[in-house]
Amino acid sequence: MTYRMQLTRVACALAGALALAAGPAFAQAKVKVGFMLPYTGTYAALGNAITNGFKLAIAENGGKLGGRDIEYFTVDDESDPAKAPENVNKLIKRDQVDVVVGTVHSGVAMAMAKAARDNNTLLIIPNAGEDSITGAMCAPNIFRTSFTNSAPGYAMGKVAADKGYKRVVTLTWKYAAGEQSVGGFKEAFEKGGGKVIKEMTLPFPNVEFQPFLTEIAALKPDAVYVFFAGGGAVKLVKDYDAAGLRKTIPLLGPGFLTDGTLEAQGAAADGLLTTLHYADQLDNPKNNAFRAAYKKAYNVEPDVYAMQGYDAGQLLAAGTKAVGGDMSKRDALVKAMHGAKLDSPRGPFSLSRANNPIQDYYLRQVVGKQNKAIGVAIKGYEDPARGCKM
Ligand code: BEZ
Repeated sequence: MTYRMQLTRVACALAGALALAAGPAFAQAKVKVGFMLPYTGTYAALGNAITNGFKLAIAENGGKLGGRDIEYFTVDDESDPAKAPENVNKLIKRDQVDVVVGTVHSGVAMAMAKAARDNNTLLIIPNAGEDSITGAMCAPNIFRTSFTNSAPGYAMGKVAADKGYKRVVTLTWKYAAGEQSVGGFKEAFEKGGGKVIKEMTLPFPNVEFQPFLTEIAALKPDAVYVFFAGGGAVKLVKDYDAAGLRKTIPLLGPGFLTDGTLEAQGAAADGLLTTLHYADQLDNPKNNAFRAAYKKAYNVEPDVYAMQGYDAGQLLAAGTKAVGGDMSKRDALVKAMHGAKLDSPRGPFSLSRANNPIQDYYLRQVVGKQNKAIGVAIKGYEDPARGCKM
């Protein structure tokens, strides 16, 4: 053996010994987390709140996942379904992230769920409620910490029927979230003896509400059920009030209508009733601690989106802890996530067979700048996960 060969052997042995001493390769690499969320457009505030909530949960976990440092990758999905396949591939193929966290808009989330299934990528959905993602499209690697679109609508349909309303008009953006929300409302409301007399829609994210408000005033229904969120919800509530309808025809909706929007809506939102799996002043230790920590970190009050992002971080922390940060142990990782019982600000919850939260839906009322829980509309609701084969 030449002197040069001997030197190479010694160098190799030394490198091997050093690697062994440092532990397995995964322990040195960072966990790559890819955020695909809206940071511009009508849902921008929702994307930012989710990001903040997620990072708060990670900070409370020592800034690590399964003992490993984290590297974040971020894509602004603009709530644009047409750009979604390309955007999600930036995270999956280009950045090769370990997990994708996103998004808000159901149409964008559909493309993400398809990509997650095709590439076996771990996906955590911190908002978008597209029913089929935890229905026919369910998969062991796809998780949701929010809701199915039909669920809060179903809860409000029950409330409206119990109040004795008989004729209701609905108004929503014409895309999956609005259609499924109205579908849930209609199912429970008509089961309870009511009738949806007119279903109105406008394209997302249009906010020209005036012609619809004029027609509502003429139809004089017992109540109006709407699905809007973010900037669109702010405008609808203000326009409804300005048209003089708030005090004569009750405006109902899923909680997105008044969550994260009350500062901007002001007195126009006073007294509105909504249904959601969260309310501002839920008096449990976790919610109190979460709200205080979020306010301290970001100097704003958290909303439902921040809470869902926080729970996405908690869920991932539970999974990565179970595998000691080894993301290649996928089966054990998803098993731990699936079985996790999260202590959430909404109250403790577990995941259904389709990886969707089983949770209470509160009836809330806007009092001042808060969505106050005034009752439980549906206890322990589990989405039927129609078509899910897991
Ligand atoms: C959705 O597109 O699924 C959605 C967007 C905002 C709030 C709730 C649901």
